[in-house]
Amino acid sequence: MKNKIRWGIIGTGDIAKKFARGLKELPDAELLAMGSRRQESADEFAGQFGVARAYPSYEALAADQDLGAIYIATPHHLHCENTIMCLKAGKAVLCEKPFAVNAAEAQKMVHAAKREQKFLMEAMWTRFLPSILRAQGWLKEGKIGEVRMVQASFGYRDRVGIAYDPACAGGSLLDVGIYPITLADLAFGGALPERVAGFAHIEKGIDEQAAFILGYQGGGLAVLSSAIRTRTSSDGWIMGTEAMIKIHAPFWRSQELSLVKDGETILNEKMPLVGNGYNYEAAEVGRCVREGLLESPLMTHEKSIELMQLLDELRDQWGLAYPMESERR
Ligand SMILES: NC(=O)c1ccc[n+]([C@@H]2O[C@H](COP(=O)([O-])OP(=O)(O)OC[C@H]3O[C@@H](n4cnc5c(N)ncnc54)[C@H](OP(=O)(O)O)[C@@H]3O)[C@@H](O)[C@H]2O)c1
Repeated sequence: MKNKIRWGIIGTGDIAKKFARGLKELPDAELLAMGSRRQESADEFAGQFGVARAYPSYEALAADQDLGAIYIATPHHLHCENTIMCLKAGKAVLCEKPFAVNAAEAQKMVHAAKREQKFLMEAMWTRFLPSILRAQGWLKEGKIGEVRMVQASFGYRDRVGIAYDPACAGGSLLDVGIYPITLADLAFGGALPERVAGFAHIEKGIDEQAAFILGYQGGGLAVLSSAIRTRTSSDGWIMGTEAMIKIHAPFWRSQELSLVKDGETILNEKMPLVGNGYNYEAAEVGRCVREGLLESPLMTHEKSIELMQLLDELRDQWGLAYPMESERR
């Protein structure tokens, strides 16, 4: 048995619970401690998931000497602060998406990881799913020829919470727009777009829905959208000169791929997830930490910063700044 990674989680919300379930799939990982702003929440979570230690503050959790890695599951505006605190406490960090509120924060986080010589990764779990890795394999094998277009959207409705709050750096772009952008990034092999343009409907200090186009060298285009008050279609398409790949809905948690040529499916693969899907990113953290890596080759520091710069650029076009971004207003 490999050395177990002993995890702690900061924040006791929805995604923290999903991640805790995901961790149960990994024989070489253990959820040892929970940190919350309130002891009762930490205790309740610990009781529900059989976690041995429950702390009444994020600082107390970060100080636990037995933890090897901490997962940050707080709202966007706290990612930078929480991450840097944990890195300074000597922990490897997996920080929820979007990595930060803006690129300046992302740079501070990466700087702290390098200074402390500790592992840091953005929890963009989609990048580690078998279906997404297989789609990248198909691209490398030339199954669709040259990639020319990507089409993807992530939109939901009928929810409440931090995504609607400007003080938490909410809005559709940061909450879910990062997923179609990630798909485009993977489809175009990590190339940076040369041009970015978009529109957003902004209400009460957040972008309720947005549509954006990324233009790549050679004419490749990604036509993407995000929404938090509109359900959208949720399959993803990568279209090439010879054929196209359908990443079956929801593309951010896909379990099936089709290769479509001239309107016909010529190849279909089902790749059922083992666990709820969050185990794959946690497994990658475990692998990297055991190998002494400071970043994952699949979700690099530079990539997280680049994508935050892209989100910044779109928000600049829309004149959308959050209350904590006084310098950007
Ligand atoms: N990867 C994914 O699939 C996925 C899915 C959903 C969300 N996310 C990301 O995960 C993060 C958390 O999202 P979530 O849906 O879990 O949110 P949530 O249910 O609202 O939980 C957030 C937790 O953060 C803590 N918190 C600290 N300050 C807070 C504040 N001012 N307002 C609200 N909560 C605060 C709370 O924990 P304590 O009270 O215990 O301190 C709360 O339970 C976000 O970055 C989000 O974008 C990722």
